[in-house]
Amino acid sequence: MPDVLIDRARILARIAELSTEIRRDVPGDVHFVAVLKGAFVFLADLMRAIEGPVSCDFMVVTSYGAVQQSSGDIVIRKDLEESLQDREVVIVEDIVDSGRTLARLQQILRSRQPRSLRTVCLLDKRSRREVAVAIDYVGFVIPDRFVVGYGLDLDGRYRNLPDISILDE
Ligand code: IMP
Ligand code: MG
Repeated sequence: MPDVLIDRARILARIAELSTEIRRDVPGDVHFVAVLKGAFVFLADLMRAIEGPVSCDFMVVTSYGAVQQSSGDIVIRKDLEESLQDREVVIVEDIVDSGRTLARLQQILRSRQPRSLRTVCLLDKRSRREVAVAIDYVGFVIPDRFVVGYGLDLDGRYRNLPDISILDE
């Protein structure tokens, strides 16, 4: 079994803080855009933690490159169902590594003219950043280890683990 890095209780405590911060910045309708599949567990807890009006939509993007490394060229496999025009949008990401996927996604979504565009990311592997990308809310900065659980996978496995764990190959 993988070693636990951040257990579920700590994740939920941090999500409570993140939701308070987001609500302070956006008092009205918050429109979450979650990036599938990894972010679906995080979104489910974040949406139940935040008070007031929220909505959500989903996107599936894949990046070209090796399994554990992305090139930043992303393909939209499933697009959003709703317009972002004039909405207060918060991108919900599981993990930012090189930053390439998120940087490109922000560029694409900004072109759809939301009133505001923010990003919440549960995990930040900051030491691996290759492109500068703005993240408004970060759950945890983590070391350069491959993590799974709480929605994060390796080849589709381990998403169901309740904690975030380090996978040592
Ligand atoms: P980036 O474009 O390099 O920032 O890659 C971000 C994407 O890589 C994430 O959305 C994940 O799909 C994947 N990824 C990066 N590190 C990990 C990890 O430790 N565990 C699981 N997926 C990861
Ligand atoms: Mg992924």
